[in-house]
Amino acid sequence: MSTRKIVVLGNETLRKKSKPVTDFDESLWQLLDDMKTTMLEKKGMGISAVQVGVLRRAIVIDLGEDEFLEIINPEIIKTKGRVTDSEGCLSVPGFYCDVPRPRVVKIFAFDRHGKPFEFEGEEYIARCICHEIDHLNGVLFVDYTDEGKEYKRTHGEK
Ligand code: NI
Repeated sequence: MSTRKIVVLGNETLRKKSKPVTDFDESLWQLLDDMKTTMLEKKGMGISAVQVGVLRRAIVIDLGEDEFLEIINPEIIKTKGRVTDSEGCLSVPGFYCDVPRPRVVKIFAFDRHGKPFEFEGEEYIARCICHEIDHLNGVLFVDYTDEGKEYKRTHGEK
């Protein structure tokens, strides 16, 4: 496992839409392992493949207590409630702002072997899942608030 370089705000790769994973093979497993290592080293709670420069729909989330959720080709199938809380991103280092997100999110996705599963997360895990799925669509949390939009303008984006 090795650490990969994080793509930061201002790099247009972050704004591209990621493609579905089609091969559940060793290169995907290597990518997921490297994403986890990188996330842990940078002290993030979640990471998407685009953040290490790979435009594929793959996500790793830290569930706490040394448990990790790998999400491939996710679809949101249900959301419930709304919570506004502080959010940050490894690709937007040092900036945090309050963002509203669903309180509960249920997804359909695939694991690293291509096996389908459903997962329901609440509170910060729901927040993480939404934030990371946004990454797969080229959306960043700074897009949602006035402070975020101001930050973008002064940090390499129009
Ligand atoms: Ni992020």
